[in-house]
Amino acid sequence: MTGAVKKAELHCHIEGAASAALVKAQARKYNADVSGFISGDSYIWSDFTEFLAAYDGAASLFRDEKDYALLARSYLEGIAAENAIYAEIFVSPDHAIAGGLSPSAYFDGLAEGIAEAKASTGIECRMIIVGVRHLGAEKVEAAAQLASTRPHPLITGFGMAGEERFGKVADFARAFDIARDAGLGLTIHAGELAGPESVRDALDLVRPARIGHGVRAIEDEALVRRIAADNVVLEVCPGSNLALNLYPDMSRHPFDRLLRAGVKVTLSSDDPPHFGSSIGREYRMAAETWGYTAAQLTSITRTSIEAAFVDEPTRAILLGQLD
Ligand code: ADE
Ligand code: ZN
Repeated sequence: MTGAVKKAELHCHIEGAASAALVKAQARKYNADVSGFISGDSYIWSDFTEFLAAYDGAASLFRDEKDYALLARSYLEGIAAENAIYAEIFVSPDHAIAGGLSPSAYFDGLAEGIAEAKASTGIECRMIIVGVRHLGAEKVEAAAQLASTRPHPLITGFGMAGEERFGKVADFARAFDIARDAGLGLTIHAGELAGPESVRDALDLVRPARIGHGVRAIEDEALVRRIAADNVVLEVCPGSNLALNLYPDMSRHPFDRLLRAGVKVTLSSDDPPHFGSSIGREYRMAAETWGYTAAQLTSITRTSIEAAFVDEPTRAILLGQLD
């Protein structure tokens, strides 16, 4: 039933979307050893810190425009086969630079893959530049400064990923001021590994349209009411939350409670192969756990498209595909 539902995802880190098989092929190309973070066709890590190391290890094997074009195309064609019509990918200039690639070559390579996937499947995609929190405020501000120059027409937002327990939200407020002044859509990871206070700080200091994860807001009723009243959209990634042990199983995941409290919740896969997930699986798990009908799942997709950092004509076309 969920297979035919049109889907969208707002929260996927492009380097985290590289399948283990693709990363192994890249390792052969560059004569590199991935045995520290891949075994067979799976990533191996046991906690968030090891996950970030596996993420960086995989990213280091994408080194030129063609590599990134292949990555974006493979990811987008994969989710288009699950009936995704729209995706936003987090792109990280710091990862490009670490791999020896200029940010402009990185964006061009990704854009080439996005164009190829659009030609073969019709899927739309936009890019959100992210700063990496645990690299510090200076690096995150540099990423915001770069984003503010609008370095590629498909770049429509700015966000921050990385270790939420590093520093305080206030340290990064200036970066978000720079991005807001440039008219970019704002999203920030909060309320994933850090508690509800991180979500409150994000609302107070960053004023984002969307929050990456945000699920731990459920621990504070007044905060849930505020998120609902302010129409802040949560990019919820249940498979990621289960893999990182935030919740023991789907029945304990707060997605449905947030939805019933009037919060605008959406579904995404975060770093799909690291968590054994995909956007299709996220929708399937939600339907199996909470009994959502196809119409209810489609309304989740509608929330995503309404919250997308995309121009209005494209939004109207995408919404039209849901009727
Ligand atoms: N970078 C990639 N995936 C992430 C996640 N789930 N949380 C924070 N930073 C990330
Ligand atoms: Zn994320």
